[in-house]
Amino acid sequence: MKVLIVGAGGREHALAWKCAASPRVTSVLVAPGNAGTAAEAKVRNVNVAAEDVAGLVQLAASEQVDLTIIGPEAPLVAGAVDAFAARGLKCFGPSKAAARLEGSKAFAKEFLRRHRIPTASSATFTRDSFDAAWLRSQRAPLVVKASGLAAGKGVVIAPSIEEARTAAQAMFAGQFGEAGREVVIEEFLPGEEASFIVMADGTHSLPLASSQDHKRRDDGDRGPNTGGMGAYSPAPVVTPALHTRIMREVIDPAIRGLAADGMPYTGFLYAGLMIAADGTPNVLEFNCRCGDPEAQPILMRLQSDLTLLCEAALRGALDTVGAQWDPRAALGVVLAAAGYPDKVGKGDVIEGLERAARLPGKIFHAGTRLEAGKALTNGGRVLCAVGLGASVAEAQRAAYALADTVHWTGVQYRRDIGYRAVQREPPRS
Ligand code: AMP
Ligand code: GLY
Repeated sequence: MKVLIVGAGGREHALAWKCAASPRVTSVLVAPGNAGTAAEAKVRNVNVAAEDVAGLVQLAASEQVDLTIIGPEAPLVAGAVDAFAARGLKCFGPSKAAARLEGSKAFAKEFLRRHRIPTASSATFTRDSFDAAWLRSQRAPLVVKASGLAAGKGVVIAPSIEEARTAAQAMFAGQFGEAGREVVIEEFLPGEEASFIVMADGTHSLPLASSQDHKRRDDGDRGPNTGGMGAYSPAPVVTPALHTRIMREVIDPAIRGLAADGMPYTGFLYAGLMIAADGTPNVLEFNCRCGDPEAQPILMRLQSDLTLLCEAALRGALDTVGAQWDPRAALGVVLAAAGYPDKVGKGDVIEGLERAARLPGKIFHAGTRLEAGKALTNGGRVLCAVGLGASVAEAQRAAYALADTVHWTGVQYRRDIGYRAVQREPPRS
């Protein structure tokens, strides 16, 4: 079979690598891909942008692709899955209607409330409906969110009511363009964050191995928010008891609620959770896709054939399959360009990739491109070095051995990815 992966990041490299490993798969196309996908056996990059929905449908039809998996949110929110379905093409992902769970935080909050799924209390405003008296009646800190897609940048934690007002007004004034036309203001929830990702088929869901990412740029979870500086799987914070609670209180009612609301959900569904001290899994956000960089360690551990799981989901038969996981832990460290998450330089030569390829583990590419046989930096998050080990601490050592092998001018990465999990692990005798 022929598979098409849409996107150009580390998640898409991992998806392409995993699909190419299947004996059922003869070739994998990646649109547009990166220098890492270009180097994988059975994988070929095609120069169609991830946002070019018509171009993607055309590509899948002309190449007689059997299965498409869409990585990033933008084409999903734009309705790519509906466009594929209209041409009778199999595409794993949510419909445009269901992808609003990520595309509109205002929609997601209303959905969560209606289906009694735990989440922070909130109110949604436009510039015209903004209620300064309501805001003054709230307790700081508050969290102010642009409702639309803002590439992970549209969230401000405001220590005071005044700062919340300023943040909301900047969003109304166009700081995040159309994404800030509506603004959600919600209570600040203390706790520990966890990502919970499932595959869904409209009716059933199959949880992926647990994972946790680090959103802040600098060591100790400090500095600006990013798309994610590293992730690991499993996440010890998700105990078996918490897993059961998340399925019962978040995932099952969400999948049932989406079906009942006439938009059955197929695809990866990612719940960003804040686990309260009493164990309540509050939903901070839904993503309509797999996480990046969570996908890299998760897919390193997946032993089952991903194409079979996606096809089962597209038949509404996820309840008939299971996923097998490597019992080892996997940990991924993101290597970013200088300046990330703000503007970054591009075109630096990445050294050491051949040496790294001889070490255990795997380097997934994100913002890279190939020029005259050399891999050059081409974005903020450049690589993700993933190690495996009997514990998170051992996976961490393997990942840093890989990361320390590659270099370019200005490369930056955190030194402490996985520290919470390592602290939870029993001491080595
Ligand atoms: P979001 O894109 O909604 O997941 O928000 C981005 C980040 O902001 C989250 O990963 C949290 O670290 C933080 N955050 C969002 N909402 C809240 C909240 N209600 N309370 C505390 N932190 C939050
Ligand atoms: N790592 C967070 C995300 O994919 O949204």
